[in-house]
Amino acid sequence: MDCDTGIDDALALVYLCSQPQVELVAVTSTPGNVDADQVAQNNLALLELCGRTDVPVAIGARKPLQIPLVTTPETHGPQGMGYAELPKAGRECEPTDAVELWVEAARARPGELTALVTAPLTNFALALRAEPRLPQLLKSVVIMGGAYYYQGNTTPTAEWNSHVDPHAAAEVFAAFAGQPEERLPIVCSLETTERIEMRPEHVAALAEAAGCSAPELVLPEQPRGQRSAANSALVRQVSDMLRFYFEFHRDYDQGYVAHVHDYFAASVAAGTAWYAARTATVHVEAEAPRLLGTTVADYRGLWGEPPNARIVSDNRPAEAFAELVSALGALARRLD
Ligand code: RIB
Ligand code: CA
Repeated sequence: MDCDTGIDDALALVYLCSQPQVELVAVTSTPGNVDADQVAQNNLALLELCGRTDVPVAIGARKPLQIPLVTTPETHGPQGMGYAELPKAGRECEPTDAVELWVEAARARPGELTALVTAPLTNFALALRAEPRLPQLLKSVVIMGGAYYYQGNTTPTAEWNSHVDPHAAAEVFAAFAGQPEERLPIVCSLETTERIEMRPEHVAALAEAAGCSAPELVLPEQPRGQRSAANSALVRQVSDMLRFYFEFHRDYDQGYVAHVHDYFAASVAAGTAWYAARTATVHVEAEAPRLLGTTVADYRGLWGEPPNARIVSDNRPAEAFAELVSALGALARRLD
């Protein structure tokens, strides 16, 4: 998993830790929501919270390929964890560069590994430069990013991950052009990830599934920044993260909700989500200043170029939250 841990990346990582059928080979850290060092610290702390100190964490790039790094503390909090204050991890990152770790793992286990990227595509682009055979070596690829014929969340036309590093995104899709359809990246983009809209009742359901002694109420009328008193560490941290995310979405007139984009991508990678997808040729704009990071899909072959992506076209939000609540509730019980 390559992430820019932030709140929905954190939910995605915790979800993968809750899935016994998932072998989490490594968690690599890309700058985006916060800087790479903070991303890595968040990954180490979350893995410790989930009892998974066996999983290596590494850092690769510390900035996008060509343009300066822009982070978003207003969306995910100054440390990317909302109001959650996770204990500092008792271990450090691997000394190995994330890109080297990624390429070595793929070479060692050809055809076996799935790459889940819930961050800007900087590390993935660098890995493809280091090992152009990566599209053949990886079993599958799932990417959260882009918005297709749908309003952006960073500029009017661009989604955050593709906007942070448009050059990397362009390189990644170019690398997959012409690959067999079953090897094309599965792209979870805003038009379907914004349907995975978490609400306070999902947090309440999670606390109940975790066996918490009191109802977990995260409500819009409560004071900003109120902290959870849940008697499950996992529920407490997730609740404090999501409160920040609910407040952010409300501040931007989207309601007291949280679009948990990366959790949906993780459930696709874990094989637990129903979804439909359409094959397309994706273009990522990396030059026009007003359109940087804008992603366009040619579903009809109008450009006469080979397909390079399978874009998710449908999903099932209610099932997604039933799965999240039961999986994290069971994990919380195992941890307490
Ligand atoms: O646009 C949503 C994406 O950008 C998510 O991955 C979120 O974590 C941010 O990285
Ligand atoms: Ca992310």
